[in-house]
Amino acid sequence: MKPRFITFEGVDGCGKSTQIRLARDWLKSMGEDVLMTFEPGDNSLGAGIRNILLSGEHTPVPEAELLLFLADRAQHMHELVLPALKKGQWVLCDRFTDSTLAYQMAGRQLDAESLQGLLDFAEMGARPTLTLWIDLPVCESLARTRSRAQGGEETTRMDEEALPFHERVRDGFKRLCRQSPERIFRVDAFGDVDVVQQRVRTVIKDCFGLNL
Ligand code: TYD
Repeated sequence: MKPRFITFEGVDGCGKSTQIRLARDWLKSMGEDVLMTFEPGDNSLGAGIRNILLSGEHTPVPEAELLLFLADRAQHMHELVLPALKKGQWVLCDRFTDSTLAYQMAGRQLDAESLQGLLDFAEMGARPTLTLWIDLPVCESLARTRSRAQGGEETTRMDEEALPFHERVRDGFKRLCRQSPERIFRVDAFGDVDVVQQRVRTVIKDCFGLNL
């Protein structure tokens, strides 16, 4: 059986977190055993690392930023993802290595090739079977983030980055999708939440041969 490890990716404000929650609820409603998790932060070191990375109180250099995301990942893999996969659970993860490639490599312009070994090291041997790239143009995603901020939702240090950074991140996801068409599927994030969710479910059903 293919590992039921699915990651959700996309620029900030693309609607990914809503989509992953709905996908979790859908799988659970059919009696499936599902772990929904996220990066950075969902582990015993996570709150501290997440605060350093995203609160805006600290400004790590890109190299330190990368290593902090990878430290968070290694802890997350060890504590949550690997045990769940071993038990045969579905693991739906909000962001994973493709975020590091898009944000730190494409966004911060670090050299991806020389760092591949480090990325593999932090993954601890697990690769997603399927990655859903929830794709929205940056102007649209930034508008959504802005309107959430006006509604009182907290923003992160990443949200505050200038437009060219977010454009490089989206281009990064686009490139990754071209490079790994067998694993990464683009989901158009335009449209009603339910319409986008139908797209998500179709990709999951096709990938895992589900007859639901
Ligand atoms: P979060 O508030 O969780 O955003 P979202 O709901 O959009 O996932 O913030 C996570 C931020 O961390 C987001 O801007 C993407 C960034 N990030 C990286 O830069 N590199 C990484 O490896 C990961 C996992 C996330």
